[in-house]
Amino acid sequence: MLVAPSILSADFSKLLEEVKEVESYGADLLHIDVMDGHFVPNITIGPDVYRPLKGKVNLLFDVHLMIEKPTLYAKQFIKAGADIITFHYEAVADVAKTIRFIRNLGAKVGISIRPKTDVTLLENYLADVDLVLVMSVEPGFAGQVFIEDSLEKIKYLSEMKKERDFQYLIEVDGGINAETGLKCKEAGAEILVAGTYIFKAEDRRAAVESLKKL
Ligand code: DX5
Ligand code: ZN
Repeated sequence: MLVAPSILSADFSKLLEEVKEVESYGADLLHIDVMDGHFVPNITIGPDVYRPLKGKVNLLFDVHLMIEKPTLYAKQFIKAGADIITFHYEAVADVAKTIRFIRNLGAKVGISIRPKTDVTLLENYLADVDLVLVMSVEPGFAGQVFIEDSLEKIKYLSEMKKERDFQYLIEVDGGINAETGLKCKEAGAEILVAGTYIFKAEDRRAAVESLKKL
């Protein structure tokens, strides 16, 4: 299992230390939650927050844009070190154009859906993305409870991937711990994002390892 700690739950007064710590426990990606106060009712991280981390750790920078007009900002986020840019299906008028736009800037492209969005709406885009991010909580805040219906979406994506030989990775985000993580794995998830479960844990090493070994 690939593990992506979400820095939203880290201590920002010592961010580099926090990130190096989870890297040393075996984390694979660094999940960076960008919120604009419009697409979601919260404001979080901009490119200036993670730019200083680039080059100091070897994690892939997995930038989750919960913003309107992602194409206006994609370049800035890539320049700051994003390896993967994930935008929300619900945030754009032209999905295919947005995928092409981000890819042409040189990043991997992910697409994400809110819990209430029908996963089959993504069908026409699945051949063209590197990652599909299933939101298992309503985007906006860390520390919410995993929505069980997400498992059906993961299964659909996993079956489509097998049937049609698609290349995307299936990532799940929200309310992940060892128990919900196991259900996601059984449904076909390949990357687990976890904020609270890792950064607020008494034993962070054990938390990362419990997800890695699923
Ligand atoms: C929520 C964010 C998540 C969040 C996960 O909108 O996209 O990445 O940080 O936090 P936990 O793991 O605490 O649910
Ligand atoms: Zn996220």
